[in-house]
Amino acid sequence: MRVLVTGGAGYIGSVVAAQLVATGHEVTVLDDLSTGHADAVPHGAHFVKGGLRTHAAEVLADGVEAVLHFAAKSLVGESVADPAKYWSGNLGATLSLLEAMRGLHVHTIVFSSTAAVYGEPERTPIDEQDPTRPTSPYGASKLAIDTSLTEFARLYGFAPVSLRYFNVAGAQDGYGERHDPETHLIPNVLAAARQDRPVNVFGTDYPTPDGTCVRDYIHVSDLADAHLRALEACEKGRHKIYNLGSQAGFSVREVIEVCREVTGIDIAVNETDRRPGDPAVLVASSERIKADLGWQAKLDLRAMASDAWKFTQARG
Ligand code: UFG
Repeated sequence: MRVLVTGGAGYIGSVVAAQLVATGHEVTVLDDLSTGHADAVPHGAHFVKGGLRTHAAEVLADGVEAVLHFAAKSLVGESVADPAKYWSGNLGATLSLLEAMRGLHVHTIVFSSTAAVYGEPERTPIDEQDPTRPTSPYGASKLAIDTSLTEFARLYGFAPVSLRYFNVAGAQDGYGERHDPETHLIPNVLAAARQDRPVNVFGTDYPTPDGTCVRDYIHVSDLADAHLRALEACEKGRHKIYNLGSQAGFSVREVIEVCREVTGIDIAVNETDRRPGDPAVLVASSERIKADLGWQAKLDLRAMASDAWKFTQARG
């Protein structure tokens, strides 16, 4: 299939684009490189540097049959400080993409949604029927896109699947996490290990067994597998929504312990105040995607830490 991967120079987009190329798809990556890296675009993919508003229509017109839409602003803290950037960069730019798709009768789209649409959950594991009450402009802008996709399916016959990611980690075949600034736990713990300095632990007084936040981590390779299955499952007139997690939660301290085992380095910690906006526990129910698409997470936290460590070491 001829597919457009927006944001395919970013962490998750590059891993999925690589799997799409490997499984015989014809891939065009569209990325403005505002946060992505040109050298992360996989070999075998065609690369167009540009934005959704300016370049999507032109790329789509070249015979594209389906879109995998990763391009987004994705920092929760930044979204609180600068909401307009998120409404414009996420919702506004995505509506341009959807309008271009509508004009060219391209209706199939797999969208990177997020656990942040649920906000502070009332219960865990979170399933897709649970209330969506985002606590940040980032989560709200992604939820607004989900809502738009529901409308585009109903009114214009779009075939969208939204995948709501929980905490993605790990690396695959040389494609891994390279954010600047890096806010995610596992790359920060591994950077601390490499630089022989302590890692910050944001909050030790949460109502969790060891006082630190609990999250549901999934390997980026498992995530990519879910995208390939979602692409096959797109159905005109129906918006399918799936959580992507493992139904297992790990605390910040447990993650650091696994990183110590994988690196062989006794990583020190610096306990600090809570990071504003962090829910205590975020764990997904993945029953729906298991039942519908036969997907479930296969790789564990140790594999995520180990693959991320190899990626970090290889980059020097
Ligand atoms: N943490 C630390 N030290 C760090 C980095 C993180 O203690 O250096 C803690 C955080 O406070 C949090 C946990 O580790 O308790 C996980 O933090 P991440 O930043 O790795 O991930 P988040 O759970 O904050 O973010 C994820 C996704 C976001 C999504 C959010 C929904 O990456 O895209 O879940 O709440 F918006």
